[in-house]
Amino acid sequence: ATEETLVLVKPDGVARGLTGEILRRIEAKGYSLVDIKLVEPSRDLLARHYAEHEGKPFYEPLLEFMLSGPVVAIRVAGNRVIEGFRALAGTTDPTTAAPGTIRGDLGRDWGLAVQQNLVHGSDSPESAARELEIWF
Ligand code: CMP
Repeated sequence: ATEETLVLVKPDGVARGLTGEILRRIEAKGYSLVDIKLVEPSRDLLARHYAEHEGKPFYEPLLEFMLSGPVVAIRVAGNRVIEGFRALAGTTDPTTAAPGTIRGDLGRDWGLAVQQNLVHGSDSPESAARELEIWF
């Protein structure tokens, strides 16, 4: 069935000028852009978005990273788009993400406290509903 997912181009992706390339890959796959905006997220918004990671060692560095510059938030629609975008994005660690994926082709480890991995995609229908409500 048609689903919607939240995609974020994280601050590293925006700063490196990769927003267009990431949008191109989403559109080339055949998914639809429903809504899009450039956001400077507040700490409160990020704390809600990343609630499940609170207390993990990378939590504070993650929030600092996400506060370091603007983010592009995108509402994307398509059949099985939640699973499909995660396949396009590749695995969390950009060093070992498969070539052909966004993270595998465009990302790498910068030796920082948090994985700067260019994009976020919702991981389930429940997460997608929750996250779209937070960002849009
Ligand atoms: P994402 O899956 O969008 O949401 C959680 C983020 O935390 C993840 O992307 C990475 O940016 C970061 N992250 C997850 N696991 C680690 C880890 N082990 N070390 C550093 N950063 C991580």
